[in-house]
Order: sequence, then C-alpha cells, then structure tokens
Amino acid sequence: MLSPDDVMEMSPNLSGRVLHLSRGGTSVVIDLDAVPHPAIVHWGEELAGSTDETLRGLAVAARPQRVSGGLDAPARATLVATPAGGWLGTPGLEGHRDGASFSVRLELVDVEADGHRARLSLVDPEARLSAQLELDVGTAGLLRQRITLRNDGDSRYTLQHLHLAFPVPWDATELLDTTGRHLRERTPQRHPFGYGTYLRESRRGRPGADATLLLAAGRPGFGFERGRVHAVHVAWSGNHRLVAERSVSGEAFLAGGELFAPGEVVLAPGESLTSPEVIGSWGDGLNELAHRFHDEWRSRPEHPRRPRPVTLNTWEAVYFDHTLDRLTALADAAASVGVERFVLDDGWFLGRRDDTAGLGDWYVDPTVWPEGLHPLVDHVRARGMEFGLWVEPEMVNPDSDLARRHPDWVLRGRTTLPPSARQQQVLDLAHPDAYAYVAERLHSLVAEYPIAYLKWDHNRDLLDAGSGPEGIARVREHTLALYRLLDELKAAHPDLEIESCASGGARVDLGILARTDRIWTSDNLDPLERLVNQRYTALVVPPEMMGMHLTSPVVHSTGRTVDLDLSAAVALLGHVGIEWDLTGTDDETRRRIAAWVDYAKRVRPIVATGRTVDVDGTEPGIDVRGVVARDRSSAVFTLTQTDTTVSYPPGRVRVPGLDPGTQYRIRVVGGSTHAAAQSGLPWQEHDIRLTGRELDVVGLRPPVQYPQRSTVIELVAQSDTQAQGGAR
Ligand code: DGJ
Repeated sequence: MLSPDDVMEMSPNLSGRVLHLSRGGTSVVIDLDAVPHPAIVHWGEELAGSTDETLRGLAVAARPQRVSGGLDAPARATLVATPAGGWLGTPGLEGHRDGASFSVRLELVDVEADGHRARLSLVDPEARLSAQLELDVGTAGLLRQRITLRNDGDSRYTLQHLHLAFPVPWDATELLDTTGRHLRERTPQRHPFGYGTYLRESRRGRPGADATLLLAAGRPGFGFERGRVHAVHVAWSGNHRLVAERSVSGEAFLAGGELFAPGEVVLAPGESLTSPEVIGSWGDGLNELAHRFHDEWRSRPEHPRRPRPVTLNTWEAVYFDHTLDRLTALADAAASVGVERFVLDDGWFLGRRDDTAGLGDWYVDPTVWPEGLHPLVDHVRARGMEFGLWVEPEMVNPDSDLARRHPDWVLRGRTTLPPSARQQQVLDLAHPDAYAYVAERLHSLVAEYPIAYLKWDHNRDLLDAGSGPEGIARVREHTLALYRLLDELKAAHPDLEIESCASGGARVDLGILARTDRIWTSDNLDPLERLVNQRYTALVVPPEMMGMHLTSPVVHSTGRTVDLDLSAAVALLGHVGIEWDLTGTDDETRRRIAAWVDYAKRVRPIVATGRTVDVDGTEPGIDVRGVVARDRSSAVFTLTQTDTTVSYPPGRVRVPGLDPGTQYRIRVVGGSTHAAAQSGLPWQEHDIRLTGRELDVVGLRPPVQYPQRSTVIELVAQSDTQAQGGAR
C-alpha cells in the first residue's frame, strides 16, 4: 500500500495527492487526482530540492484552464487516456464486446508504491475492465511501464489497442526515429514535432529492418552531447507501434505498445493480458539517454559478463559450400589470428545446399557430414576455440520434410500460404506439436555437440500470420512461444549463448535482448555504412551486445574495397568478429589481423563496461567516437575520415567524456596517414598530456588521412593527476 512518505496529501486549498518516484537521476511526478485517473506531471531530470509542498504545487501548475469551445472540465493526457475521460487524441485503450461496450473510463482505486516503483489499480465497473499499471524507475533512471488488463465481465472482450504514454516537455519540438531496410538498418531521420500524431508501426511480425528502435523528442537541434531529449522503446519482438502526439490542449507525449491484428486478442471472462514493457529514457543529449539503457541492461544478473569471445562466422567465407576440408582450413586460419569462437553458419542440415530448401529439417545432413559435425567440432575445439551453430528455428521451406509432413504447422491466414520470402514460410510456434518438435531438435543438438553459441536467425517478415484458414492472427502467440523457447533453452543449458539475427538487424529490441546475448547488427559489413548503423543501434543496445565483424577487403554487400585498419577500427568498439575467408590471406595480412584481434582483446573490458561517447559538431568528413572507462582512467577513440574535408589539414576535433581535471597521455594505436602530409602529426611526435577539460573544450588536430581511413587513439590518465580529477 501507499506509504505516507510517498503520497503527499495536498493542503485544503490544493486538493489531491502526488506521487514522486525517483532513482538514477530521474524523477517521475504523478498527479494521482487527475481525472479520471492519474497523469504524469513530470518525467525527466531529478527534481533535487523539491519539497512535498512544491511538488504539490507542480501538480496544480500542470492543470489546464477551461477555454472557449472546450470541455467544461478540460481533459488531460492521463496514463491510459480515453474519450470517456474527455481525451480527444489517440486513446490509450480501445476495445469492445462484440461491437458493444466501446466506452472505457478507468478510475484509480488503489496505489502501492515505494521510492521508485508504483502499482496503480484502475477499474471501470461499467465496462467491466480492471487494470494494474506498473511504473518503475530503474537504477540508471529508465522509466519502465507495463499494464495488465483484465476482463471482469461475463462476455468476451476484444482488445484493439493498448499503449502506454510518456509525457514529454512542451519544448521538445523535434523528433528523431530510425528507419531502413535489409543492409541498412537504423538510419536516422528527424522531423519537426508539430501538432497532430506521428506514428511508426511495425507490422512485420518482428520489429523489421525498417523499424524505429526508439522514438525520441527533444529540444530543436539536440545532439549526442547536449540538448534535452526523451525517448521511448517497446521491448517487444512482434508487431508494435510508437506514437508522438502534440495536442492543441497543450500536452505532448510519446507512447508505445503492441500492435494487434483484428481479433488477435480476445479476453475470455476473467482472462487478462500483460503488455510488453515500454521503456523511456532521457538525457541532456543522446549519449546520456543511451547510457541509461546500457547501464540498466548491464545491471541484469544474466547480462553476458565474461570477455566477449572474438568470433569467426563462416557465412561470407564459404556461404553454402560446406566441406570438412574447407572448414577445417578456415578454423586453422581463424585460430592462427586469435579467434576464440568459430560459428558454422547456414548450410549444415538436411537438404540445405542453397537457400531454397531444408529449413525445418534440423538434422545434420549425412551427405555433407557423414560423421556428423563431430570432426569439425573436435577440430575447432582442439584449436582452443568454442563452437557455435546457426539455426533458424521459426522457419520452414515448403521444400522440406517438415512442411511435407505437417502443412498445418505453417502460419497462414487463409487456405493459400502467405506470400513467399526467401523461399520460406514461418512455423506456427504457438502450435504445441510444432513447438515440441523444434524444442526437441534444439535441445538434442545442444546435448549432442558441445555448442557454446547459437546464431538464431529469422530471415523473413511475417505476413498474414494466422493459425490456419479461418483461424486467428498469431503474431502475439508466436512471439510469446519464441520467448518461452529461448527461456527454456537457456534454463536447460545455462552456459549457452544465443545471438539474435534476423537477416542482420531486423529483430533488435529489448524483448529479444532480455533472452539473448547479442544481436547481429547488420548483414552490411561495410565499415562506412556501419558507422551510422552502429551509432544509432547503440542508442539502446550496449556495444558489447552488438556483433561487429571485420569484413573481407571487397565488401560483399556494397562492392566497396576497404582497408583492414578501417574495418578493424569500426569493429573495435563492439563485440568483435571476423567474416572473411582467411584461408586466402597472406602472412602479412594475417599478422595485421592478429594484431587487431590482440588489441580488441585488450580493449574489450572497457567496451563492455565503459561509456560510449559520440561527438557532435565535427567537420563533415570526420567521425569521432569512443568509449571511456567507467572510472575515466582510460579511453579509446576512433578518428575516422569518411570523406575528404574542406579544411586541409583538418581543424581540431574535440574528445569529450573524460575527467576534466585529469591529465591524459595520448597514443596513436593504429591508422595510416595521407601521403600528402608533409610532416608528422606534431602532437604525436611530442609526449604531450592534455586534461580531460582541454580535450573536451579545445581538442586536437586529427591526422591528415585519406578518405575511408581511421586512426585509433588511446588516452590513459596519468596517475599523478588523477586523484585531483574529480575535485575540479
Ligand atoms: C542472414 C544472416 O544475417 C546472415 O549472417 C546469414 O546467417 C544468412 N542469413 C544465412 O542464411
């Protein structure tokens, strides 16, 4: 129950009660007496210094005046706003009972709260619905919301729409979201946040390559380093929607939730539905907003903590050309450069000689592997590497024994199959027999072979996904079954790591990342394109959970020829891997790869625990980003020349995020300079030290580089100056 400390009774002239949740630098102030149920008055910066009295005043200060042409009691954007409560914008909840009982007006009946958490109980006796709304401010200041809606009536309730709202400051007039496609996920786009509704929907049964990872609203021109910005993410791997809405009644909010197909959610009497978590973050700049996601995700007990093994994935090295000789040679080459995990990609199972057949038949193909995978697995492990295996458990090729035997296990909304994609269809994982089959296959494979890692792919969108002709839409049940399968596998094999891949990065969300250990960030290995993709993916995903691979010199997805040092520098600040047929490389190239792998192993503790820093305002043609150790004792930055610059030599770049009062020694780790540079880089030739403040405010000259080159610099605090650091 609510404790007296949490709820402030208003003085007689200020009617109502206020709830203040705070943690991790975030305050959430809730007016419990907003009508017909609570409204968030403030979500964002911690209101240090506020008193009970001022917070009560704040709630009153947010209340609207009555205006001409409006309602007699002006409506608020409450937590689950509906028209029956006076809300004229996008409702938080919509549903009906066989066409009737559309009206919903949830009222507060109970509050339980502690300092950072609240559970609000809402009921509508007339609509015969009740809801539990949970709000939790996490250790790093993320606001997580979740709702459980219950049908208290004696007839079925069809739920059409349910979202959770996060109000944003009125001066947040610019929106940022991401879009994209296969090979170009999470491309940013910005728009003015004007009156009306901006809607992003994912209808692909997975977030999709075009999905927005989050929807952000901030002060105009907000960047990574500065500018207040709020954002919302839906932690769900099925269909979802994100809304930004500015109302002429003077309220602006972001909202998110699952997106239901018609009839997908019908609650039987007494049945309830729990929504996915919708998670809000904020910051003075996107770096701070991202740190809240990273810090909180890292604080989970199940977060992968051991050093991220340098991985070699066989896909772009051999594609479907699986032969023991070729793969053992590749494993030898991988081991020689320091790889720690060898992942056998697509092509190992029954009938899978290309991408037209075999999905679903999860048995090792004896025509390719007469002795099973054992000879390869033993070879890999004998060279000190872990073994990983690719699977795509939710998928089925019509040309497979599985599809021939069990056509009823394939998702479809009508008698004909949904449009084909990559010659494959989707298995109805919510079908108990289909689930049992897939689960048995996966458990058996992991039991038979010492598989340390599954690369879990998902190569098509779900369309018309139902439980057979005249059945019901199944994306929600399918997604829940997927989660159950992942949870059960992890429980049965606690050391097993799983990568979420979906044609690269088409399933990137915190629902899947609650059950897996990393994502395959994109099938596009071109380092120049990866710069954008990785920067925006890292707004939510901690970098050590993002697969970043060295590409072969001619990038398969763009045809561009890239330098090894560029490829390595761009992969360095994530979970490093290699996707390249190393058997064709000469000794010198292998020596250079081995040196990068070695360096990546040295840097990975900082990557896995430190703070990402993306630098604003650098001249077009130069990209500066880095990661700073948690205690700010060291940092690694990349200075990447994406294009030529107008200035020549280029003007100074700033290196922010370090301790202002500490002096740092700066060392160039790798990179190559432009042949036209007439002299060495002066600061490189002297043993200079700069303070964190000098690096942030003034900066240094980047090297003159050819386009498409990168220089890695390492900054190490000088211990004699470090002690004074925090004090200045
Ligand atoms: C798509 C993935 O993103 C690739 O890395 C590879 O695993 C292929 N699928 C295999 O079919």
